[in-house]
Amino acid sequence: MDLTGLSSKGRFLMVLCIVSYLYKSTAAEGSCKLKAKFNLRGYKEVEKKTVVIGGMFPVHQRLTDTDSNTTIAPESSDCEGFNFRTFRWAQTMLFALNEINSRNDILPDTELGYVIYDSCFTISKAVEGTLTFLTGQDEAVPNYRCGDGPPLSALVGAGGSDLSIATARILGLYYFPQMSYASSCSVLESRFQYPTFLRTIPSDEHQSVAMAKLVLHFGWTWVGTIAAEDDYGKYGIKRFKEVVEEAGVCISFSETLPKIRNPEAIERIVQTVLDSTAKIIVVFSSDVDLSPLVGELLRNNVTNRTWIASEAWVTSAAISRHPDILPVLGGTIGFAVKRADIPGLKEHLLSVTPYNDTLTEEFWGIVFNCTMNYRQVLSGMRRCTGEEMMEKLSNTFTDVSQLRITYNVYKAVYAVAHALHNLEDCKPHSGPFENNTCADITKFEPWQLMYYLKNLRYTVPHTGEEIYFNNGDVDGFYDILNWQSESEGGITYTHIGYYNSTAPPEERLIINNGSIIWNNDILETPRSVCSERCQPGTRMGIRQGEPVCCFDCIPCADGEISNTTDARGCIQCDEDYWSNANHDTCVPKTIEFLDFTEPLGITLIAIAAFGALATIAVAIILLMHLNTPLVNVNDPLLSFSLLLGLVITFLCSIVFLGEPQMWSCMTSQVALAVGFALVLSSLMGKSALLMLRARASSDTAVIAPRVIMIVCTLIQAVGCTVWLILMPPQPVKNTAAQNIKIILECDPGNIIFICSIFAYDILLAVLTFSFAFVARKLEDHFNEGKSVTFGMLVFFIVWISFVPAYLSTRGKFMVAVQIFAILASSFGLLACVFIPKCYVLLIKPERNKEELMIPRAKSRDTAASGSSASLATTSSSANANGTTVSTVSLDD
Ligand SMILES: *[C@@H]1O[C@H](CO)[C@@H](O)[C@H](O)[C@H]1NC(C)=O
Ligand SMILES: *[C@@H]1O[C@H](CO)[C@@H](O)[C@H](O)[C@H]1NC(C)=O
Ligand SMILES: *[C@@H]1O[C@H](CO)[C@@H](O)[C@H](O)[C@H]1NC(C)=O
Ligand SMILES: *[C@@H]1O[C@H](CO)[C@@H](O)[C@H](O)[C@H]1NC(C)=O
Ligand SMILES: *[C@@H]1O[C@H](CO)[C@@H](O)[C@H](O)[C@H]1NC(C)=O
Ligand SMILES: *[C@@H]1O[C@H](CO)[C@@H](O)[C@H](O)[C@H]1NC(C)=O
Ligand SMILES: *[C@@H]1O[C@H](CO)[C@@H](O)[C@H](O)[C@H]1NC(C)=O
Ligand SMILES: *[C@@H]1O[C@H](CO)[C@@H](O)[C@H](O)[C@H]1NC(C)=O
Ligand SMILES: *[C@@H]1O[C@H](CO)[C@@H](O)[C@H](O)[C@H]1NC(C)=O
Repeated sequence: MDLTGLSSKGRFLMVLCIVSYLYKSTAAEGSCKLKAKFNLRGYKEVEKKTVVIGGMFPVHQRLTDTDSNTTIAPESSDCEGFNFRTFRWAQTMLFALNEINSRNDILPDTELGYVIYDSCFTISKAVEGTLTFLTGQDEAVPNYRCGDGPPLSALVGAGGSDLSIATARILGLYYFPQMSYASSCSVLESRFQYPTFLRTIPSDEHQSVAMAKLVLHFGWTWVGTIAAEDDYGKYGIKRFKEVVEEAGVCISFSETLPKIRNPEAIERIVQTVLDSTAKIIVVFSSDVDLSPLVGELLRNNVTNRTWIASEAWVTSAAISRHPDILPVLGGTIGFAVKRADIPGLKEHLLSVTPYNDTLTEEFWGIVFNCTMNYRQVLSGMRRCTGEEMMEKLSNTFTDVSQLRITYNVYKAVYAVAHALHNLEDCKPHSGPFENNTCADITKFEPWQLMYYLKNLRYTVPHTGEEIYFNNGDVDGFYDILNWQSESEGGITYTHIGYYNSTAPPEERLIINNGSIIWNNDILETPRSVCSERCQPGTRMGIRQGEPVCCFDCIPCADGEISNTTDARGCIQCDEDYWSNANHDTCVPKTIEFLDFTEPLGITLIAIAAFGALATIAVAIILLMHLNTPLVNVNDPLLSFSLLLGLVITFLCSIVFLGEPQMWSCMTSQVALAVGFALVLSSLMGKSALLMLRARASSDTAVIAPRVIMIVCTLIQAVGCTVWLILMPPQPVKNTAAQNIKIILECDPGNIIFICSIFAYDILLAVLTFSFAFVARKLEDHFNEGKSVTFGMLVFFIVWISFVPAYLSTRGKFMVAVQIFAILASSFGLLACVFIPKCYVLLIKPERNKEELMIPRAKSRDTAASGSSASLATTSSSANANGTTVSTVSLDD
């Protein structure tokens, strides 16, 4: 019957049903009837013994296949696959019992007998053994003990966790103590389900946590797991996963090793290992279950992986003695229970003879390739002589260098012996049981021994280790071993650290990583990550449908940074800050304004100053010739106000430079607006003067233009004052225009105000141009009308071309363009209006005569043709007094 597929609870219920069914059928008939003949092998020594200790070891690895043919009476299967390692365990129990029996300090008057069965690494055999053990005979009659021998004390063993779970269920029913040496599964911690289970091996709860700590210690975040298909593997790997996943480690794959031969499943696991990028693989399995996988790994040459071994296979020769294992499993790191040297054990192991029992006989036959079986001798096999030299053997059985589980067996036997000793040693009338009675060593009940086991505290001989059971379990302590190559090509287990579960948390895992030899080309700590870490400047971007450890590193956007590795998101920089090129810090934005000190600023200041000085020079020239007709006739007041306006515009352009301040913002705009208003209204006054001269009396001709000039300027001045009072312009930081810069600029305060103020200037300009355009054909002194028209054209051209230039620049260059436009238009006006006058005043003073100012008919015709080209020629025209003028050519 194959019970491996069922859960432990299911198996238990099934065993109970079968057992009670068997019992009922026998009880009903009133007499005992043999229901099944068990086929158990082992050792038995109960004659003349006071107490008997049971033992169970998986000496064989599996049951032989039996065809399920129900035409013949079914027989209990035989076992196959002799295991030298577990045979050593069984022999260690015999050794320990011999040692105890020969000692005078433990159980001096009591001889211990034993009944040891081979559980064949199968649950069914373990159950057979348990029932036989309890009933004292091969035929299972539950709840009765028919054999009439010495009392049974406790069962040492059952081997793997699965077997112990099955036997502990049955033994628990009778409150019969079980002392396990290799069943580490964490579910066996439950005293509710397994009330009489104790063990000398630490619970896997500790081992799973220790493995998780190891993985975290080396920073591996991407690991694969392989577990045996039994309670040991399933619960061990489950707890491991819980701990590492909580710490952010991702599991790349989880595979299960089949219990029964299944080459396809093994191949699939190897393929998974090959396909995965995980370099760390945690294996929770017994050596027997792992062996087929190791063979397949060797066949596929799976190198470059680091394996993490559980205690069940870490020092197993069945794995490490594979030829060529080093490239595949070298560098393996594993957890192993405490090791000890047991003096005398080696001699005991070498003293076995093939005549003692069937197990030793089989062992003998295998190691010496001979047989004791008569039939096989006849068929040609060598006959064992019994004189073969055990001493020459060097195999797993005789290897006592890694006594770990063996040491647990030794401790378990001693635990039972010490408990029995305490039981025997009980002082009458001061015993622990009811009415202070003691138990009798010759006929005690299992629960009485259980009392002594629970409260046991003893020292193991030879090693001096003190053992006590904390709720049935011992403290979690593991050596951490590293598989390294031996000089002869084999494997040595190098001790690289330990795990002590009772130490303070930070001291639990101690690893001397310098002595580790890793299984890779570079001999460095391997990395096992799904994705490399995201450097500062990038953030983790999840990949849809993949574990969280697998991600892409996405660069932060401009203006965002991440300053930690593995940042989950980017941080937006503050308003005045911007990301640097690496996107790992926020740097202050550069502040931009057109400074006085930079070459462009200096150039503009020089030009502006030159313009202002030139204007002043012109004014001085005019002053010096104040009483000459040329100056007089064109109303010197308007000329000076025009020059004053030009000086203001030249100088105000300087105020545009530098870091904007409250005062400079207010001054620059207002001065510009008022300056232009003054310039334009003066020009309008001049044009008006020309028009009035042509028609009206000279009195009004003088007064009206001045009034126009003053009124127009005043309107602008009042408008600007209102603007300054209500909504003054102020400096602002413009962070929106450009990402990496803060542009310092003047905010106009109110867009309507600034628009109307400059719209007023445009209106003045348009009016001036219209007046001048009309006046240019009139009788003129020194071509004033044409000069003004031409100047206004220059003015318009400059400002019209300014608009696209202004809009296409950014930051401080906008200011530069603005200043340039101001300077250009001012220079244009200055040049067009005053250069012809200065020319006459300074170079051709003879033309500055009243009588020369009579226009000539010919030149008037040329002017009337209206071509702008003719403006190059300035013609004199008649003044109001009708005097003659001469033609002045600018080309001279
Ligand atoms: C069962 O055993 C009988 C007798 O040994 C044999 O004839 C029959 O073929 C077997 N059946 C199977 C399914 O093996
Ligand atoms: C296994 O791989 C190693 C390199 O990784 C190579 O040197 C060796 O020859 C391979 N062995 C077999 C049996 O393919
Ligand atoms: C072993 O794995 C590392 C990465 O962990 C890789 O760089 C190296 O190339 C691998 N070596 C071989 C032989 O595959
Ligand atoms: C085997 O039997 C011999 C006697 O036949 C005995 O001296 C020896 O101690 C036994 N060995 C074991 C391991 O039982
Ligand atoms: C065992 O001995 C037989 C002869 O008795 C021989 O044919 C066989 O090869 C041997 N096997 C081993 C593994 O030495
Ligand atoms: C304990 O002592 C009481 C009174 O002496 C007695 O009735 C009882 O049976 C005793 N119990 C046992 C288990 O001997
Ligand atoms: C484990 O740690 C505890 C507490 O530090 C200590 O008492 C104990 O001796 C340690 N065990 C071993 C085996 O070192
Ligand atoms: C050992 O591990 C520590 C960190 O745990 C590391 O700093 C050190 O470099 C490692 N030493 C070696 C030889 O790998
Ligand atoms: C990362 O940036 C944040 C916000 O700018 C800051 O608070 C933190 O100190 C920085 N961390 C490091 C390691 O620079």
